[in-house]
Amino acid sequence: MIKKGIILSGGMGTRMSPLTKAVNKQLLPIYDKPLIFYPLSILMLSKIKDILIIVNKGQLSQYKKILPDGKKLGIKINYKEQSTPKGLPDAFILGEKFIGKSNVALILGDNFFYGQYLSKKLLDCVKLKNGAKVLLHRVSKPEKYGVAKVKNNKITFIKEKPKKFISDLAITGLYFFDNKVVKYSKKLKPSNRNELEITDLLNKYKKTNKLSADYIGRGGAWLDTGSIDDFYKTTNFVSAIENRQGFKIACLEEIALLNKWIKKKQIKEAIKFYGNCEYSSYLKKLI
Ligand code: DAU
Repeated sequence: MIKKGIILSGGMGTRMSPLTKAVNKQLLPIYDKPLIFYPLSILMLSKIKDILIIVNKGQLSQYKKILPDGKKLGIKINYKEQSTPKGLPDAFILGEKFIGKSNVALILGDNFFYGQYLSKKLLDCVKLKNGAKVLLHRVSKPEKYGVAKVKNNKITFIKEKPKKFISDLAITGLYFFDNKVVKYSKKLKPSNRNELEITDLLNKYKKTNKLSADYIGRGGAWLDTGSIDDFYKTTNFVSAIENRQGFKIACLEEIALLNKWIKKKQIKEAIKFYGNCEYSSYLKKLI
C-alpha cells in the first residue's frame, strides 16, 4: 500500500500573471476553496495520511496559514521549499528523506480530478508494489500535455507536449511510484528547456516493462488549471456540481470525517477557524 504522497505545489504561475505575482497559483480560488484543496482531497481519498507539500521558496507562511500541519484533518503535512522550478521529478529528490524506503504517489498542485468511481480507482492504484502507474485521460488538445501511445493495454511510447499528433491520451498529473523513483530521478539530466522531465522518468520504468496505465473514463473529469481560462472553466464546473447537488467537492474535513480520521469535535473547531462563511455552514450540516 502506498502510504505517502507528495503535492508539487510550486511553480511560477507565469501564464497567470499578474494574479500569481503575490500569491501562489495553488492558493487562488477554484470556486469556494483554494486550488490546493482539490489535489489534497485526492490523496486523502486514496487514504494517504502522510503528505509532503513542496512549495516555492518564500511562500511557506502563506500555505501554513490555511494548511498548518494537518492535525486538524487527522493527517500529517510536511513542507519542503523548492528554490526554482527544476521539473516534476525534482519532487523525489527534494522528497528523498520524506519518502525513505516507501513507495510514493505524486500529484501536481494544479490538477483537478472528479468522478463517480474515482475513489475506488485510487484505492486500487495505491496497491502498487513494483513499478510505476499513470492515469490516462482522452483530451482534445494533446499537444498541451505529456501523452502516451497505448497498444494492447501497454504503453508503447510517451512524449512531453508533442508538436505532431501521437495520441490523444494525456498523462494526468497523478502518478504512483515504487521506491526506485528516487534513484531514477537523481540520474535524470535536464531537457532542452532545462527541466527534469516526468516523461524521462516514466521512460526509465517503461524500459524495464514496469510502467502500467489506467484510465479516467468518459464519466470522470480531469481538468487542467494551467491558464486563466482553464481556471474559470474549472470554477464553473465545481460551482455547477456543488449548487446542483448540495455536496461539496474536496471538502477536506468531510473526507477526514468519512475516513474516520477526525470526529465531530474537530469539525466544530474547523467551523471556528473558517468563521462565518458558506463552507462553515456546510460543515455545520455535516454534524
Ligand atoms: O497536468 C498534467 C501535465 O503536467 C502532464 O501531462 C505533463 O506531462 C507534465 O509535464 C505537466 O505539464 P505542465 O506543463 O502542466 O507542467 P507545469 O510546469 O505547468 O507544472 C505543473 C504543476 O507543478 C504546477 O502547479 C507547478 C508545479 N511545479 C512545476 C515544476 C516544473 C512545481 O511546483 N515545481 C516545478 O519544478
